[in-house]
Amino acid sequence: MSKPAIRVAVTGAAGQIGYALLFRIASGEMLGKDQPVILQLLEIPDEKAQKALQGVIMELDDCAFPLLQEVTAHSDPMTAFKDVDIALLVGARPRGPGMERKDLLQANAQIFTVQGKALNAVASRNVKVLVVGNPANTNAYIAMKSAPDLPAKNFTAMLRLDHNRALTQLAQKSGTQVKDIEKLVVWGNHSPTMYPDIRFATVNGESLEKKINDDVWNKDTFIPTVGKRGAAIIEARGLSSAASAANAAIDHIHDWVLGTNGKWVTMGVPSDGSYGIPEGIIYGFPVTTENGEYKIVQGLEIDAFSRERMDKTLAELTEERDGVADLLK
Ligand code: NAD
Ligand code: LMR
Repeated sequence: MSKPAIRVAVTGAAGQIGYALLFRIASGEMLGKDQPVILQLLEIPDEKAQKALQGVIMELDDCAFPLLQEVTAHSDPMTAFKDVDIALLVGARPRGPGMERKDLLQANAQIFTVQGKALNAVASRNVKVLVVGNPANTNAYIAMKSAPDLPAKNFTAMLRLDHNRALTQLAQKSGTQVKDIEKLVVWGNHSPTMYPDIRFATVNGESLEKKINDDVWNKDTFIPTVGKRGAAIIEARGLSSAASAANAAIDHIHDWVLGTNGKWVTMGVPSDGSYGIPEGIIYGFPVTTENGEYKIVQGLEIDAFSRERMDKTLAELTEERDGVADLLK
């Protein structure tokens, strides 16, 4: 007998990331090849966006995915989020000409306040939320604060793209394979202040830091390359990353739901006070997952360089949080 379907909401479903994401969810790559899914897709009410969404749904239909039980299109989060088990909040306002980071924060704060309230009202009480739309950590914080009846720990932000980017940089530098690297961490904000930390990383069980043995490369090349990778892709493609972002979203939810078997992955999660990060701030931490729950890896030693980097990315997040405080009153 087949499993009951899982309801997955995706916002910004007619956008670039949506197009790279939906077909992989429907084919079973996110939740398993034996897990039926129902897709509840949200776009802005704008006629062009809704028409584009209909086109995407026509293509989903034309794939005849055996696991896809139903697809619905929505322009209202109150219907899109009804009973959803998983919500991928991808849609956000991109930065326009002359827009400062602060303006972007304000515009998106409104979107994520409305969506957080809608999740609070109609989603499954155990809904797992992943925020992809930028600024992802603060948008996740806003949605979490707007949904007081849902568990705060179920609101997460995507740092997995940064984690995956760092893995490949490390494999290429050390002449090893991504699959053999473990215990990488990316601390903090999904922004250039993030801190990819290789101090605990191993390759086939041996210290990767020792194998690479190049502190100058770590500080002057690796950390900035990972931090500025999003901008490098925009520069090269004329558009922001989409397939790799969708892939990271699939990885994040896959691992959260199905478990990491003791392996560390990076998730942006509300801090429980670990590592001196104030409670509630959505911060990239190393986690392991089991039975649909994540746990922050504990007991890691934080040296002076790491403390400085972790505090710098925290300061940015605190500033973003203070910038939207008015909207959350
Ligand atoms: P896009 O512009 O191609 O698509 C975004 C879609 O969202 C559009 O179709 C738009 O109509 C829709 N949208 C806007 N506001 C909405 C709302 N209130 N409700 C529902 N839909 C809404 O953008 P994209 O390339 O798909 O990127 C989406 C977001 O993801 C951007 O904010 C981007 O910066 C971010 N991003 C994050 C990461 C990460 O690692 N966290 C990586 C890449 C991109
Ligand atoms: C990315 O990391 O690729 C995106 O967040 C970049 C961006 O600014 O949209």
